[in-house]
Amino acid sequence: MSTDWPALRAAAIAAAGRAYAPYSGLRVGAAGLTDDGRIIVGSNVENASFGLTLCAECSLVSALHGAGPAAPGTDPAPGPSLVAVAVVAGDGQPLLPCGRCRQLLLEAGGAGLLVEGPDGPVKLNVLLPAAFTTTDLAERREPR
Ligand code: THU
Repeated sequence: MSTDWPALRAAAIAAAGRAYAPYSGLRVGAAGLTDDGRIIVGSNVENASFGLTLCAECSLVSALHGAGPAAPGTDPAPGPSLVAVAVVAGDGQPLLPCGRCRQLLLEAGGAGLLVEGPDGPVKLNVLLPAAFTTTDLAERREPR
């Protein structure tokens, strides 16, 4: 599926406008394209207890799961479902996801997920090489 990056960025910019960031003053919006053509968005949400802050990408991944499958009545796909993600700050320019969000995006989109950077889209495995994955978990956990 090809990605309409200007449309995805526009959705991220709109989401950044809905951010709740009174403490840092850094509004962030994230928009993800799903493998069935939907655009899901998220905004950062801060809290007076600073450690509770939710990044925009975290909100996006939560919204992705909350939205469920495209066709009602079908089971959510077990694997990755994001194919492209745009994240912007309040100035409308791309912002690369923090480390925690790269890990969250990995499980929502896989190593080949395209993330918009300042010089164009890059695959997530470039931003998060040698990642810990569900495979590591399955292979390394101790039998119960
Ligand atoms: N933030 C995000 O929403 N995504 C990132 O990838 C980096 C940081 C937010 C969290 C916090 O509300 C603000 O930016 C400053 O760190």
